Amino acid sequence: MPLVEADNLVKSYPVRGGGPPKRVVDDVSFRIERGQTLGIVGESGSGKSTVARLLLRLIEPDSGAIRLDGQDLLTLSSRELRHVRQRMQIVFQDPYAALNPRMRVEEIVGEPLVIYRKELQRVPQVSNLSPEIVRARNSSAMAQQARILEALRTVGLDASALPRYPHEFSGGQRQRINLARALILHPELVVLDEPTSALDVSVSAQIMRLLRDLQRELHLTYIFITHSMPLVRYMADNILVLRQGRMVEQGGWQQICEHPHSEYTRVLLAATPELPSVVS
Ligand SMILES: Nc1ncnc2c1ncn2[C@@H]1O[C@H](COP(=O)(O)OP(=O)(O)OP(=O)(O)O)[C@@H](O)[C@H]1O
Ligand SMILES: [Mg+2]
Repeated sequence: MPLVEADNLVKSYPVRGGGPPKRVVDDVSFRIERGQTLGIVGESGSGKSTVARLLLRLIEPDSGAIRLDGQDLLTLSSRELRHVRQRMQIVFQDPYAALNPRMRVEEIVGEPLVIYRKELQRVPQVSNLSPEIVRARNSSAMAQQARILEALRTVGLDASALPRYPHEFSGGQRQRINLARALILHPELVVLDEPTSALDVSVSAQIMRLLRDLQRELHLTYIFITHSMPLVRYMADNILVLRQGRMVEQGGWQQICEHPHSEYTRVLLAATPELPSVVS
């Protein structure tokens, strides 16, 4: 069974000044197998982030179905949803905006643990809790500290980061902190929404390599969102091309990058330069 199944997702927003609502996601469907990466590419405004938000149920679709591991996400109660959410995390584009400047790294990375522990202590009887969550619920403050440190080490940072504030870090390091925060609850699915587009080329390359290593080590499933065909080629097993909310084409990376069916995909391929050798 695929980890993620999305069927015929539709999302529209009202148009300023009236008129029929605009479909910003229009009949989008895909499957993602465990441990694989689905790349979503398309120009600015094509609906990539909206698909990601729908999937994590940060926003509600007008229609369609989303299943995680066979479980229908759209019919979950808000309580059930909170428990499923720890299995799915998102990393945003801008590592500067994403981190609370008044929190220390230790608090930033540990916050999901604290939130879930509180949540779980309020609700003692929950079915299908993952072992991770049971452990998080029962963990002492010291165990929590160890989890924070483990998450930081996973992304190539160490204990010296714990007492520091986001402004003391470079863009690449901040994105590592975001990643540590996303990974601390041991999610299965990580949505990467243009995770390197705010970084310069060589830093971006390091983060891309880290993401690939982490995927292999932790058996993560990714949705990797980007404007860049070379980046999606580097990361993705399968690629979905979006244009104005609609699927242009979908297929294996090689097929999409080397034998695209659609003129639009060919234009995207021609528009982005090759990756610098530092990545490949
Ligand atoms: N809350 C909202 N209300 C109204 N329109 C919205 C809302 N969120 C997104 N949109 C519109 O939906 C369309 C798709 O937006 P989305 O952010 O998904 O695009 P994107 O592909 O992620 O673009 P980018 O590459 O710039 O991040 C855009 O036209 C955007 O203006
Ligand atoms: Mg976006």
